[in-house]
Amino acid sequence: MRFLITAGPTREPIDPVRYLSNRSSGKMGYAIAEAAIKAGHEVVLISGPVDVDRPRDVTLICVSTSDEMFEAVHQHTSRCDILVMCAAVADYKPAKVSKSKIKKRAENISLELVPTQDILSSLPKNRNYLVVGFAAETEQLEANAGKKLREKNCDVVVANDVSRADAGMESDENEVDVFIRDGEIKKIPRRSKKIVARELVKIFENVCEKC
Ligand code: CTP
Repeated sequence: MRFLITAGPTREPIDPVRYLSNRSSGKMGYAIAEAAIKAGHEVVLISGPVDVDRPRDVTLICVSTSDEMFEAVHQHTSRCDILVMCAAVADYKPAKVSKSKIKKRAENISLELVPTQDILSSLPKNRNYLVVGFAAETEQLEANAGKKLREKNCDVVVANDVSRADAGMESDENEVDVFIRDGEIKKIPRRSKKIVARELVKIFENVCEKC
């Protein structure tokens, strides 16, 4: 199968030296890419800025902003069987990017933010590839993941609790619940991201084969 995987954070520039971003390390997305390669699949990995070794045998596309990630995903979906949107795409970006460095002043300043384009929601309803979304939640995991599955028209949503210090963002371990469109829920207990990735790839293969 052909996997298209996004990983890492995006960076939304404020001025030439500053940006808005988040704590995503990219480890989960890179681990899924590696597990998919090991399982014999083809992988295109669209990555935000991360400090993780490039997995062997993947086609790596490096992007920085949410707009660049949006373009890269749309360019490659026509050649994939499974899209895994593991990236922590920024939800907002500055309304204006200052061309010169914003100078320090004594008074408060405010930054106007506008929503970024939602990549998952922009995908066509009729498509011939499986769509996996991720849900990073700090409360009501099941309710919020179910809502994302429906509202973002995903086939699968992988949800994790990012409020925990021992699993999730930046950590080497993760614990996830996988919500499948037919109502099935699969729980993967706390394990290294490499093992979680291997289990996820098996689940994605099974769901993809069924549809
Ligand atoms: N996502 C996306 N485009 C965006 C923001 C998020 O495609 N502009 C995708 C992520 O890659 C992930 C899923 O949407 O697969 C859910 O991301 P998450 O941050 O958990 O949810 P949001 O939709 O941003 O909602 P909220 O932050 O309110 O939970």
